[in-house]
Formats: sequence, structure tokens, C-alpha cells
Amino acid sequence: MCGIIGYVGSRPCKDLILAGLERLEYRGYDSAGIVLLEADGFHTVRAVGNLAELRRAAGEGGSSATTGMGHTRWATHGRVTEANAHPHADASGRITVVMNGIVENYARLRSELQDQGVVFLSQTDAEVIPHLIAQHYEGDLVAALRATLVHLKGHFTIVAASADEPGRLVAYRQQTPLVVGVGDGERFVASAIPAFLRETREIIVIESGEIVVVEADTVVIHRGGDVVSREATRVEWDEDAAEKGGFESFMLKEIHEQPAALRDTIGDRLSLGGDIDLPGLGLDDAALSRVERVQVVACGTSFHAGLVGRYLIEDWAQVPVNVEVASEYRYRTCLAGPGDLVIGITQSGETADTLAAMRVARERGAHVVALTNIMGSQAVRDADGVLYTRAGLEIGVAATKTHTAQVVALALLALKLGRARHVLSAAGAADLGDELARIPDLLQEYLESPDAAHAMTVGEKYADRPFFLYLGRHVGMPVSYEGALKLKEISYVPTEAYPAGEMKHGPIALLEDGSPVVVVATDGHVFDKVISNIQEVRARGAQVIAVATRGNEDIAAHAEDVMWVPRTPPLLSPILAVVPLQLFAYALARARGLNVDQPRNLAKTVTVE
Ligand code: AGP
Repeated sequence: MCGIIGYVGSRPCKDLILAGLERLEYRGYDSAGIVLLEADGFHTVRAVGNLAELRRAAGEGGSSATTGMGHTRWATHGRVTEANAHPHADASGRITVVMNGIVENYARLRSELQDQGVVFLSQTDAEVIPHLIAQHYEGDLVAALRATLVHLKGHFTIVAASADEPGRLVAYRQQTPLVVGVGDGERFVASAIPAFLRETREIIVIESGEIVVVEADTVVIHRGGDVVSREATRVEWDEDAAEKGGFESFMLKEIHEQPAALRDTIGDRLSLGGDIDLPGLGLDDAALSRVERVQVVACGTSFHAGLVGRYLIEDWAQVPVNVEVASEYRYRTCLAGPGDLVIGITQSGETADTLAAMRVARERGAHVVALTNIMGSQAVRDADGVLYTRAGLEIGVAATKTHTAQVVALALLALKLGRARHVLSAAGAADLGDELARIPDLLQEYLESPDAAHAMTVGEKYADRPFFLYLGRHVGMPVSYEGALKLKEISYVPTEAYPAGEMKHGPIALLEDGSPVVVVATDGHVFDKVISNIQEVRARGAQVIAVATRGNEDIAAHAEDVMWVPRTPPLLSPILAVVPLQLFAYALARARGLNVDQPRNLAKTVTVE
């Protein structure tokens, strides 16, 4: 949560920082601030709202400052107010700080500082930091920050500056991310690479527990009492990936990028003979054959991908799979052990609860694999192995292409496990691999077909409804969960998602004449059961919106509207069936006049528990 950028160099940096914050806005956008070091000291501007508000508050006027920092906030401690927006300063205004994360013991620190006469101007946890640094400051910001860190508990990234040390930023990370961008006579610090990608592709990843001092021409990393040397590496990301590329929103662009994301995720990992190459797992075939259980830990949309993965792994590899939300798993008595393969699914690689759940399992001796979209993310560093999705940068807060890419990656893992355990023959794996490899093209055809446009029309048609029930069975169940999450998070319309067979044990009471019920009714062995459930809700006056397999036109007799998807083997159907639900949610939210890329109260990366 929250995005940070800092700059030191020779260029006036106001616009560089504002542009960088725009690239970080997905991390939080309830308020923002910028601080520039001018000849007479720090000049700070803060504003409630998104970056456009900060730009307005900062005004058109130029600034000659060549050192500065910016912050975009997702509130954790203290309401969304200008006073709570970062940066925060000490009483003298000579020390200024931006922070991402949480200082867990801030309440005690705040009250101790108040007892000493310190006056606080915000309700944030972050404000204790500049006051503590000021107390320890004797002309050396690194020493003062180090002395401050002794008092702080939590997980956070801090960037600090002193008016008495112009041209220098001092930063520290404890779990939450921090990268340095190395330019020609200039340096950036930021929460994520896109913040400075337009300016430089040379990066240095700072490890947890390190302090880094950046000046225009130098980067000095301190670890404990030592100075660590680390070369910059080059990132080859496509800069345009962070732009909308002609689409009206990032979410719509990313929905349409799914064929490429799936194609890239499959890439060279699948060979014609049914061999699957996943060297990053850190387990050879012999070790995979000894896996006794698979445990998936994840949050939100990634959790839904895990639920789909369970069906694939249990069917193709015959290994029992448990899937649990990470925020619950991490606080249960953990019984994981050396026979367990634990998969932490997190597109960002930063979700605090998923990281914690992975750590708990790893401490118990389980083999932990990070399934993530972000190279070198914390999840990768905290795991024994890695399985990357290759979906490219996802900016829209509502996950789309990373979700389907996660399911494809889990399908590859299921094939790999199935082969290693001799459950699948080479021919069987090759057949399934062929079906999987066809999915990107099928999805491409679908997105270009009238069926995709129709899904959006259906979304618009139901835009005024106050509530939706989503139902699905077997692999259709997690699809319905994901469809319901997409709709509620971008349209703010309440949704309930339920296993269709469980619906009559409670949720059916919600239905009245005309209630819309979205049913995932793609072909498979439970299709007839789903039709029975459709009859049950229709008998209560519900209007059924079905997701169904093209070619099975009988469903039309049972539904008010049908969103068609191409035929695939049933176990792979979730990859396609979720897409009309993404489009449905998108069109419905757009028809309600909402900003789908930045839904209220959410952030793309949830680095607090
Ligand atoms: C989904 O649209 C949401 N953005 C959210 O549920 C998300 O999937 C969740 O926060 C997990 O994020 P992660 O994959 O980065 O760990």
C-alpha cells in the first residue's frame, strides 16, 4: 500500500516526481503529497483525492528543486485528510519523511514523544518517524535513521531527507519494497520500477533490512555495519505497458491482453511430447513424485485461481489439495511439513498475508513456491521456488489477465505433477497440453467475436439492479466467486457467490421476483445439476444470466440472457468462462459512471495485513 518516489540529480524534479506518482497510483490514491528541497528549505504540497488533485494543488509554477520526494496514500492509520497525507516533517521542518507500510508500535512511541512535548499534526503512524529522526539528528541522516529504526516495529519503507544535507536521500526497507533507479547523474528511489521506467531502466533492488543513501552520482547500501556493493541490472519491460494503448481504461486493455498473457505464460514450458519444463520450482521429478499434499495460500482473485487449480491438480496429479485464504492460514496451527508443497499465489508478490502464510509454512519445512507475476518480488525472495506468470504489468486494480495467467500456470504445474507421479502418460499429458495451448487462440477469437460484445451489452442491461447472486458448481464455482468479486469491487453493487448446490441452504431466501442470478453453466459432468439449480431460482421469479458453452444452445430455454464462451475440456473452462464475467462487470460499472481502474477503498497491492 502507498507509493513512494524520490529523486536526486541535476534536473528540476517536480514534474518527474508527479509523473512517477501517476505510475504508482495503483498502490493507493486517497491522497498524495510532494516535497521539494528549495534553497530556503522544504516546500510541501498535499491534497486529498487522486493525483489530479495534487497536480492542481501544486500549481503550474516551475520549481528549480533538484531533490524531492512524493507519496500516494492508501490510508491505514488516520482518516483521509490533507493533514494525514505524506510527507510528514519534524517540528523544525528540517527533516521530512514519506513511508509505505505500518509502524505497529506507533501509539506508544507517539505518546512518549507527546510526553516530551512533541506536537503531532496528523493521526498517522508515520509521523513518529521524522520526530524520532530529529531527536537523534546531529548532522548525519544515516546515523539518525539508524538510531530511529531501533525504536520501530512493523513493516515499512521509509525515505527521509534533511534540509541540512541537500542532494541526498536516505531510504530503508523492512519487508515492503524499495528499488533504486540509476540514471545519468541522477538517482531515483521508489516502491516500484514503473515509477521511473521512463527515465532509466537500470535498477538496484534493495533488500529488507538495508539502508540506502542516494546522491546524484552514487548509491551506497548499508547492511548492518557494512557497506554492500551491488551492480545495477537492466529491466527490459515495455514502457508502453503502463499506458492504455488506445483502450478507454487499463482494465479493458488488460482484459484484451489475456491471450498474449496466456501465450507467454505457456511459452516454451510445454513441449509437443507432453514434457513440462518448470525449472524454477526447485523440485525435480523425483521430489515432485514424493509430494504428499498441496496447500495453496492466496488472497482475493489469486485465491480464486487457487480454487480452480485444486480441480486441475487433484484430477491430473491425484494429489490432495487444500486452498485457503492467506489471512486465515497464517493464524491457524500450521501442520505443514516436509511432504507438503505450498504455493503462495500473489500477482504482486507483495501481499502481506500471503507472504506471512508462506513464511509460516516454510518454517515448518514445507517446500514453498511463489506463483507471481513480478520478477524478484518479495514472494520470490521468501520462497524455495518460483513459477512466474508472464502477464506483463497489470495496472487496473481489478485483476484480470493475471488471474487467467495464474490458472494457466497452475494447469502447467498440474501437468508437471501428473507426469512426475506417473498419473498421466506422456500421450495423456501431450493431449491435455495441446488443449491448454489452444486456449490463447480461442480466447483471442472470443474477444474479437460478437459474443464478447454481447457480454458487455448484457452488463449494461442490468446496470440498475441492486443485487446479484452468482452460482456455479465444480470448476464453475470459483468462476462464479471471481465474477462476483469483479462486479462488487468495480461497481459497488452487492453480490453473493455460492456453490449452486448449497444455495437452497440459505441464499435462496434473498431472491424475489426479477432478482438477477448469474449462473456459470458451462458443459461438464455437473451441467444437468446446474440446470436443476437454475429451475429452482427461476421458480422463485429470478432472472437467470447464464455463462454457457457455444454449441449447447439448449441453455437458452432456461435463461433470460446467455453469455457464450468457446468449448474447451471442462477442467480448462474456467480460463474462458471468467472472461464474459469480467466484461459483464466492466460494462455494468461503466454504465453506472464509475472509475473502473481506481475503485474506491481499494489498492492494487495490499502490503498491510
Ligand atoms: C482483485 O481484483 C483484487 N485486486 C484483489 O482481490 C487481489 O487479487 C488481492 O489483493 C491479491 O493480490 P495479489 O495477487 O497481488 O496477492
